[in-house]
Amino acid sequence: MRVLGIETSCDETGVALYDTARGLLAEALYSQVAMHAEHGGVVPELASRDHVRRLLPLVQQVMDQAGCTAADIDGVAYTAGPGLAGALLVGAAAARSLAFGWGIPAVAVHHMEGHLLAPLLEDEPPAFPFVALLVSGGHTLLLEARSLGDYHLLGESLDDAAGEAFDKAAKMMGLGYPGGPRISALAEQGDPARFTFPRPMTDRPGLDFSFSGLKTYCLNTIAECGGKEALSEQDRADIARAFEEAVVETLVIKCRRAMQQTGHDTLVMAGGVSANRRLRARLAEALAKPARGHKPVRVCYPRQALCTDNGAMIAFAGALRLAGGEQQQDLGIAVRARWP
Ligand code: KG4
Ligand code: ZN
Repeated sequence: MRVLGIETSCDETGVALYDTARGLLAEALYSQVAMHAEHGGVVPELASRDHVRRLLPLVQQVMDQAGCTAADIDGVAYTAGPGLAGALLVGAAAARSLAFGWGIPAVAVHHMEGHLLAPLLEDEPPAFPFVALLVSGGHTLLLEARSLGDYHLLGESLDDAAGEAFDKAAKMMGLGYPGGPRISALAEQGDPARFTFPRPMTDRPGLDFSFSGLKTYCLNTIAECGGKEALSEQDRADIARAFEEAVVETLVIKCRRAMQQTGHDTLVMAGGVSANRRLRARLAEALAKPARGHKPVRVCYPRQALCTDNGAMIAFAGALRLAGGEQQQDLGIAVRARWP
């Protein structure tokens, strides 16, 4: 079965073709990051309009790249939420219409299920059951994935998502958007001994997160250094390092706790923040050695391009759902900006 996947939930237009027998046949991505960077963050209306401009040419490009015509495609999967309503509607309208025109089924995919399943696109994919840490600009959650579609929430952020915290901290230091990769690069030059930020909610039991307090801490530290305008390059790097250490350490502590609580031996990590190098290294280090009677944990994450938003993860999740007999029954074009 060949499935076309369409992702337009935020600021990336992603399209891919996945073949259940041959794997990923082709993929294309257009990132709007440069356009939104001028505004310091994603402007929803600009995002929707740009998806309108990019989407169909990208579909054509992917089909050409795979040497496919419409007759070779068996289904169309699209992100139906959560995300920006207008942006989602562009993908949903295009996907539903293509499927209708081609006489094939359409299937609505939850964006976070796309992220969750992305590591399964890699060689030696993890097998169910596993624990997943999903860390993106919109979500931070830990869940137990027992089988396809059987997911149990273990914990989530009560306020800002980890990626959102990176983006806001970067903005405070005048680093621009998106903040994660910039803070991460700058942190390399930072002195880890100069500032220590708190590890929120790690001193009490449970698997929920809270990252909004780190923003205040960041703001106060910037003020201590004389304000945003007075920051030297070294101040910025030292703050970036302390901030990154705090987020990474907090995520690692909660992941270790989730592994102990569930007893599973595989941790899957996905979403934009899972591209963070320090997070990858620390998690591997912390979970590889068995703690007090626990098994060593295998940590799986997708290649960088599949960590951030992309069409491949949606094509893949849609293919699994279509193969399981699921498909959209009506011709309606509906999206869910909020979708638990
Ligand atoms: O999954 P994603 O592409 O979009 C959402 O669904 O939100 O995640 C984007 C988020 C942004 O907040 C970005 O700053 C963050 O992922 N991010 C990173 C890194 N690369 C992207 N955060 C920390 N370190 C990185 N290397
Ligand atoms: Zn995402």
